[in-house]
Amino acid sequence: LSYAVQPRPEGIAQAFLVGEAFVGRDRCALILGDNILYGRMDLDHIGEEFERGDGAVIFGYPVQDPGRYGIVEFGPDGEVLSLEEKPEKPRTNLAVPGIYLYDGDVVERTRALEPSDRGELEITDLNLSYLRDGKLRAHRLGRGIAWLDTGTQESLLEAANFIATVEHRQGLKISCLEEIALRRGYLSRRELRGALEGMPNSPYKAYVEQILAEEA
Ligand code: G1P
Repeated sequence: LSYAVQPRPEGIAQAFLVGEAFVGRDRCALILGDNILYGRMDLDHIGEEFERGDGAVIFGYPVQDPGRYGIVEFGPDGEVLSLEEKPEKPRTNLAVPGIYLYDGDVVERTRALEPSDRGELEITDLNLSYLRDGKLRAHRLGRGIAWLDTGTQESLLEAANFIATVEHRQGLKISCLEEIALRRGYLSRRELRGALEGMPNSPYKAYVEQILAEEA
């Protein structure tokens, strides 16, 4: 993994300036670190559709407190009618989660943005630039998906409780990177065993060891 640091909180869209050398003219996805999406999303299908055209893809998810988010309004055929950041009078209850797909113009479009009143390069302004050119598509996330935002103490606690409940019930961890790497064949059993050697003892390590033993 390589990473770059955003020195000051100057907006989500700034990721494309901080990461410009990494993104270049590639298509890319942006995912916010304080957003948790749990459930089955048909990302393969959406990704294939995305790769066939240009533009950007966002999602819409029903929430009870739409004033806290970017809010999207869909037309009858799934086209985007409007998109607003933290509106005082939300037109819908469909919030835009922190997972976005962009075409190769994203860095250039970000460069043309001006900071908002809160001094940030807003991801919603970037998405509006695609919308103005008729290049923004949106997908509604089904109610079987849990989207949790961990941006406040309460929502962080709620997310922790949700994850703990599912993990405890199933005896399986959610998003254990070592387990995913093993099951998807990114790491061999031997490589994973090597990686575990430097890890201090913890319930997490015990879980990965158990997965290794089960897969034997
Ligand atoms: C940001 C975006 C907003 C989006 C939200 C998702 O909000 O500006 O459009 O709906 O993330 O978590 P912020 O965390 O900056 O308040």
